[in-house]
Amino acid sequence: MTMIHPDAGQCPVSHLTTAFGAPVPNNQDSLTAGARGPLLAQDVWLNEKLANFVREVIPERRMHAKGSGAFGTFTVTHDITRYTRAKIFSEVGKKTEMFARFTTVAGERGAADAERDIRGFALKFYTEEGNWDMVGNNTPVFFLRDPRKFPDLNKAVKRDPRTNMRSATNNWDFWTLLPEAFHQVTVVMSDRGIPKSYRTMHGFGSHTYSFWNEAGERFWVKFHFKTQQGIENLTDAEAAAIVGGDRESHQRDLYDAIERGDFPKWTMFVQIMPEAEAETYRFHPFDLTKVWYKEDYPLIEVGEFELNRNSDNYFMDIEQSAFAPSNLVPGIGVSPDRMLQARLINYADAQRYRLGVNYHQIPVNAARCPVMSNHRDGYGRMDGNYGSRPHYEPNSFSQWQEQPDYAEPPLRISGDAKHWNFREDDDDYFTQPRKLFQQMSAQQQQALFDNTARAMGDAPDFIKQRHIDNCMRCDPAYGAGVATALGMAG
Ligand code: HEM
Repeated sequence: MTMIHPDAGQCPVSHLTTAFGAPVPNNQDSLTAGARGPLLAQDVWLNEKLANFVREVIPERRMHAKGSGAFGTFTVTHDITRYTRAKIFSEVGKKTEMFARFTTVAGERGAADAERDIRGFALKFYTEEGNWDMVGNNTPVFFLRDPRKFPDLNKAVKRDPRTNMRSATNNWDFWTLLPEAFHQVTVVMSDRGIPKSYRTMHGFGSHTYSFWNEAGERFWVKFHFKTQQGIENLTDAEAAAIVGGDRESHQRDLYDAIERGDFPKWTMFVQIMPEAEAETYRFHPFDLTKVWYKEDYPLIEVGEFELNRNSDNYFMDIEQSAFAPSNLVPGIGVSPDRMLQARLINYADAQRYRLGVNYHQIPVNAARCPVMSNHRDGYGRMDGNYGSRPHYEPNSFSQWQEQPDYAEPPLRISGDAKHWNFREDDDDYFTQPRKLFQQMSAQQQQALFDNTARAMGDAPDFIKQRHIDNCMRCDPAYGAGVATALGMAG
């Protein structure tokens, strides 16, 4: 009788073959010369099995290595066609298939989930005009505003080259030397710094993106996704207790919820800024360390997504998923945010390395609409490779015709090429975190002080003092609170 596997269910009987289909008669005993003798090289099944085994591990993502994902459905609930021509939003009630992957950032593929860290919030919408990837985080701002510092950020938060351990010194030395990181550091050290699960956190596109409509008008846009499960977070002590018993707490929570039919949902909102207002807005609208205040640009509801299907194979869909901010569709574009500009290049570059040049053919990454890129050949090509179609353009046979109707409206840009130092003309890093700090209850402020002190751990006093000084510049009460928690007051 065939038994039912608790996770896989009732599988049909299967018979073992080699990778090329030949029956494997013996999967228990290697081929040896005599009962006590050595292996024979002609044991082709053993050779194939071992060879495949040592090639199972692929490079992990440089950051966001540990993640959980699921498939779902996005539904439009409000009309925003006056802002964008994107087909995904073309009518109320319209549904689009999607895939989501949530992550911790600094930890490796085997890291524990319940760690103090920002969370990745990556969505892939399979629209009829191509895939739209919204590759965001659970925080509306980021540590940096110039991509030149991104590799340094990762070095600072990951392992020390000598000890191979995480280092509070490296981490806080770097953060405190970059005051633009202060807003994000405040969020990460706050009571929202450890979400209880992926289901209980909001998501943000963080960058400013753009919309354009049928009339060719451009709007700047920020994306927000509010959890319908309600925000829930862990204290450091709760997280430590969870990690002690379960390193996979986020994965388990998301997977189990979907298995029992308790499908998590998020409501999508946008903030919209008319193109010309970017010139005059009180904050630099393309600075990733700043938000747009909701009193200036209120949230406009758009729709909701629900995650309703677990993958049958983690590696196939979740590990091999590839999200890129460069995966855009007509009606959704980018902005001059230099962080976003770097991401437009870096993700696909990373994915060609991590998954190979034909990674767009992996089912989770493949568009659900016709694809006619004329990219051909390359390692691991799986489809018909466009058969015998002419492989050049222009040609006399109506192949590979560009589609000018989808052109984005022109964007005026100007300026002298120079390594512009944003610190010279715009160094207000404290107004927004001050507002955030002042909105916190006394209890939340105390949690911020205590979380900061614990996270700074054994970092040297001069680094702690530098952070206290930054906190003072934000709000004297913030500085005093952190100083007291660190035992460095007075
Ligand atoms: C993953 C680069 C900033 C969200 C990645 C990956 C790279 C990268 C190379 C791995 C891609 C892969 O192998 O599939 C960068 C650079 C940044 C930057 C150079 C800044 C200049 C950001 C920001 C956000 C973000 C600001 C959020 C607003 C994510 C997410 C993932 C990711 C969610 C994981 C996607 C997944 O689940 O596969 N990033 N990143 N990154 N990044 Fe960034």
